[in-house]
Amino acid sequence: MLIDVVLNPAEIALLSRRDLSGTTCVIFDVLRATSSMVTALAHGAAAIYPACTIEEAFELKKQLPDALLGGERHGDPIAGFDLGNSPFEYREAVAGKTIISTTTNGTIALRACEHADEVLAGALLNLDALVLEIQKQRPAKLLIVCAGTFGDFALEDACAAGWLVAALKEGELTDAAQAALAVTRLFPEPLPALQSAKNGRALLAKGRGKEVDWCAQLSIYTVVGRMKSGVIRPLPQ
Ligand code: MLT
Repeated sequence: MLIDVVLNPAEIALLSRRDLSGTTCVIFDVLRATSSMVTALAHGAAAIYPACTIEEAFELKKQLPDALLGGERHGDPIAGFDLGNSPFEYREAVAGKTIISTTTNGTIALRACEHADEVLAGALLNLDALVLEIQKQRPAKLLIVCAGTFGDFALEDACAAGWLVAALKEGELTDAAQAALAVTRLFPEPLPALQSAKNGRALLAKGRGKEVDWCAQLSIYTVVGRMKSGVIRPLPQ
């Protein structure tokens, strides 16, 4: 298995032209999009539709009138939406629900990989389950996509990529995968990494430190969210 990592979000726009056959993609937007999605699936959400824009989310809502609209812009809830992007909002009242989500970076990174053989929504919250799923799939190529923040590298996503590479304990690593692994030697524990990252500091400044603490938890859930035809659903456990 060749393991590569998209560390620079500028590469995400190029993924639509990249051959992702034989590839499993794992998308990390640890603060907070994919952490909130994994939380929602663990609390019984039936399906998540990642939308690239607010307009697309409202269009989807016309086709799925019972769905909840969730997401953020600039970290804040979107006018007319049911939910923001805090993982805490996805622990309640999501059981059996379909969620349409649009976020600044996470949902765009997910959609950019939709032509891959397999697409998994990754978080620290389900890291061990991701490892088991990748070991089950045994893809020729694993591409870990760090959603980043706007155009910027995000430390928390790079660390998550590195921890996943470390946990897999196998594979041929590209330079980017080696770099992600190297970052985890500076940050052996998730919480200090998330707290020192730009996104983490922004959340702390907004009084949302408990969300950072939440997203830094390792493997509290066994659920894996798999995207097929643009819809993320929990894999049977
Ligand atoms: C994103 O998709 O950019 C993030 O999840 C932003 C956020 O923390 O809400």
